[in-house]
Amino acid sequence: MSYNFTQLASVDSTNSYVKLHLDKLSNRDVVVADTQTEGRGRLKRKWVSSSAKNLYFSIALKDIGDIREVQNITQVGALALVVTLKNYGVIAKIKWPNDVLVSSKKISGILSETVIKGSDLEALVLGVGINLNMDKAFLDLIDQPATSLGVEIEKEIDKQAFLNDFLDIFFAYYDKFLESGFASLRDEWKSHTNLSGKNIIIRNNGNNIKVRVLDINNDGTLKVISKDNIVSTVCCGDIEII
Ligand code: BTN
Repeated sequence: MSYNFTQLASVDSTNSYVKLHLDKLSNRDVVVADTQTEGRGRLKRKWVSSSAKNLYFSIALKDIGDIREVQNITQVGALALVVTLKNYGVIAKIKWPNDVLVSSKKISGILSETVIKGSDLEALVLGVGINLNMDKAFLDLIDQPATSLGVEIEKEIDKQAFLNDFLDIFFAYYDKFLESGFASLRDEWKSHTNLSGKNIIIRNNGNNIKVRVLDINNDGTLKVISKDNIVSTVCCGDIEII
């Protein structure tokens, strides 16, 4: 497949760029930047984006329509990324909801943002940051354990080739997601996690809750059980396996 790329040397955030220039962008256009000055992560965190060795890009998804499962799009992205990495010989795991880890170290982050016009969802912006060729010395400066594909396979990765590979895989899953919903991807998604049966802490808005994971629901949420045997659903927050 061929894609329409906007290639920027530097930008505040590719997600912000897509939102600002949405009128001029077509559905499924991809904005890529060598570096970002204000890369954003989930939960208002910063995404370190000063190394042009990594990939920072956002996709304008205008055909997402009014699909109710819009929140699952980052999970679709994580699945596509794990499969792309596998094709490069690296076994990655998804840490719910959408972090991609290799040997418990973060290799990628995904941030989705919506653009609403009136009561309509005009577009969903899917922003992806992937540590591609960042070397060990730089990775050690990140405030959490991190790795890059280059470090893992000890090879320089062609950024454009990797991006094309990811987009081919992502759009195949995305089309399935639009047609049949997240439930159609859930088993495959689950096969790339190692959560079932694990004790975890859920951190959400300053609350820390200890539970055991029973399963991943069809809608991508977690089915958990507390120590008092109360079964509940977790939709949001950060988790830590204990
Ligand atoms: C996270 O793990 O918290 C999500 C990080 C998402 C980073 C990407 S880099 C491209 C796009 N632009 C941004 O400002 N953020 C996303």
